Amino acid sequence: MSLRETAERLVEAETVVALTGAGASADSGIPTFRGKDGLWNKYDPRELATSEAFARDPERVWEWYLWRRRKIAEAEPNPTHTVLALMERDGLLEAVITQNVDGLHQRAGSRRVIELHGNIWRDECVSCEYHRVNDPERGEGLEYDELPPKCPDCGDPLRPGVVWFGEPLPHDALVEAENLARSCDVMLVIGTSGEVRPAADLPLVAKSCGATLIEINPSETALSSHMDVIIRERAASAIKALWGEIERLS
Ligand code: OAD
Repeated sequence: MSLRETAERLVEAETVVALTGAGASADSGIPTFRGKDGLWNKYDPRELATSEAFARDPERVWEWYLWRRRKIAEAEPNPTHTVLALMERDGLLEAVITQNVDGLHQRAGSRRVIELHGNIWRDECVSCEYHRVNDPERGEGLEYDELPPKCPDCGDPLRPGVVWFGEPLPHDALVEAENLARSCDVMLVIGTSGEVRPAADLPLVAKSCGATLIEINPSETALSSHMDVIIRERAASAIKALWGEIERLS
């Protein structure tokens, strides 16, 4: 399918949904997880992204998340985030389902963002219901007097509000994402390796319900063989070109 035909498919579709992964934020300078420069190539996820690691060494885990928060705070949304927000504004996109925890879709103006892996700006108590979402623009969540920070309600440690390996996904987010996967007629799969389930199952669910799958990714992925359309490019340039075609159609 040419870029123009892909744009036509998007415009004619009743319900378009995007599934994004770390590659969607790569053009904002935020590292991905897998691949040559990926975080999991430099750091062991078992030491940083599990509840066992947190129980063993909460200070080390927090230091790593504060480093990532600083990188995210310095980053700006890129054209992938911006175009998806414009598509939603114009009624061409129903929702963004994201595996990213950086909040860049929301910063770019997307309203319906389903966060499957939580949000890095959230602090949650390990014991009670206490939680808060920090606003880095107000200097929140970038440093703490002590690590781990303590829950103001019960005094137990706070943890970052992200999903760690071995933990279930937030129930409501997963149900909403599955419903969207079943009901959409096009799914844009942007910048994900498709290696982490259950997020990686969503395109397969969509396809089994008749949706067209469009992959935007410079590299082949575990999902590529299921795709109807593949754009082998970095997301920011690909989606800008796609948006250009969409604008020419209207
Ligand atoms: P990965 O790091 O596994 O994959 C990133 C994908 O982005 C790869 O397929 C790259 O080819 C692609 N990519 C790189 N640069 C790109 C660009 N400029 N434009 C488009 N694509 C690009 O990231 P995810 O698939 O998001 O989980 O990983 C899934 C989950 O694994 C993450 O949410 C995280 C991680 O462990 C948790 O933290 C729970």
